[in-house]
Amino acid sequence: TTKGLKDYYQNYFPIGVAVTPHDLTGANRELVLNQFNSVTAENAMKMGPIHPTENEYNWKIGDSIATFARNNHLKMRGHCLVWYSQTPRWLFKDEQGNTVTKEVLLGRLKEHIHTVVNHYKKDIYAWDVVNEVIADDSTYFRNSQLYKIAGEDFVEMAFRYAHEADPKARLFYNDYNTEQPKKRDKIYKMLKALLAKGVPIHGVGLQGHWSLSQPSRSELEKSITMFASLGLDIQITELDVSVYAGNQGGQLIQNAAQNAKAEFTPEMESRQLEQYKMIFEVLRKYKKNITGVTFWNLSDRYTWLDGRGKKNYPLLFDTELKPKKAFYEVTKF
Ligand code: G3I
Repeated sequence: TTKGLKDYYQNYFPIGVAVTPHDLTGANRELVLNQFNSVTAENAMKMGPIHPTENEYNWKIGDSIATFARNNHLKMRGHCLVWYSQTPRWLFKDEQGNTVTKEVLLGRLKEHIHTVVNHYKKDIYAWDVVNEVIADDSTYFRNSQLYKIAGEDFVEMAFRYAHEADPKARLFYNDYNTEQPKKRDKIYKMLKALLAKGVPIHGVGLQGHWSLSQPSRSELEKSITMFASLGLDIQITELDVSVYAGNQGGQLIQNAAQNAKAEFTPEMESRQLEQYKMIFEVLRKYKKNITGVTFWNLSDRYTWLDGRGKKNYPLLFDTELKPKKAFYEVTKF
C-alpha cells in the first residue's frame, strides 16, 4: 500500500510512533515515513539517558530523532520530563551522598526542564511533562523518590517550569491504566485540582498499553469523556495491544524461558483485530477531543513487551514489517 495510517486519518488526528535510532534507517525508516506523521523518542529524551550527570547533557540521540522529524515534516512529541523511572543516579543525592532537600530537588528539576524544553523548542510541539505519578494501589500518589522528597508539589512545579521554557508547547500529564475506574478517579481529581490552581496543563495522555481484554468500549469512552470534561486535549500516547490477557501483557507469564518463542496464533489475531477495531471506532467518534494517537514501537519485530518474558505481537505491522489484518480493520471506514 502507498496509503498510510496518516493518510486514512488525516481528517482525524496525527498518527505517531515511538522510535529508536534503528527506526531511522533502511526498511524501518521507509515504514515510518509511509505510515506516520508524528514521532516520539522511545527512551532518548528521558532524564537518565539525556542528563546522565549533573553537568552533562547527552543530546546525540534525541537530536538525531528531532532532525529526522524536522527534515521529514513530522510532528514530534517530547517524552518525558519527570518520571520516577529512568532517572539518573545523581538527581537525589548531594556530593556527600546524602539525600537532597525538597528545595534542591526542585531546583534540579527546574534546571533540567528549562534546558531540555528550550533545547527542543523548535521541534517539539507537545511534552509529557509528568509521567505516572498516580499509584496503582489504593493510595493516591505513587510513593516514588520524587514524592518522598518533594511531596506532590513537584507535579505542579514541573508544569510551571515547562511553561516558562516554552509557553507555546502543549503540556501533558501521561499515565497508564487510565481506564481503571479507581485510578482514573484519582487522576481526574489531581488534574482538576491543578487546573483550579491555574497550573498550565493542556492535555492528558492515555498511554494505551492495552490487551485483548482491556479496556472495554464503555470504560474507554468514559475515560475520554471524563478527561475531556476538564477541557483537556486527549492523546493516546503509547498505543499497543498485547496479545495476552491482563494489563500490560505481563501478568500471565509463568515460564518465561519456555514461552520466549510464543507464536502469534489465529485466535490472537482475530481477538486483537476486534480490539483494535473497537479502539479506533471510539477514537474516531471522539475526534473533537483527540489530538494525537501514537503507537509504542513500529512493528512486531521489536516491542518493549518482548522484555516481559514472552514474545508479543502488539502492533499493526508484523515481524516482516507487513500490515497485519488489524491494520486493514482500522483503515476500513
Ligand atoms: O541502554 C541501556 C544499555 O546501555 C544497557 O546495557 C541495557 C541493560 O539493561 O539497558 C539499556 O537500557 C534499557 C532501555 O530500555 C533502552 O533499551 C533499559 O534497561 C530498559 O529498562 C528500557 O526500557 C524502557 C522502559 O520504558 C523503561 O522503563 C523501554 O524501552 C520503553 O519502551 C519503556 O517505555 C515506557 C514509557 O517511557 C512510559 N510508559 C510505559 C512504557 C513501557 O514501559
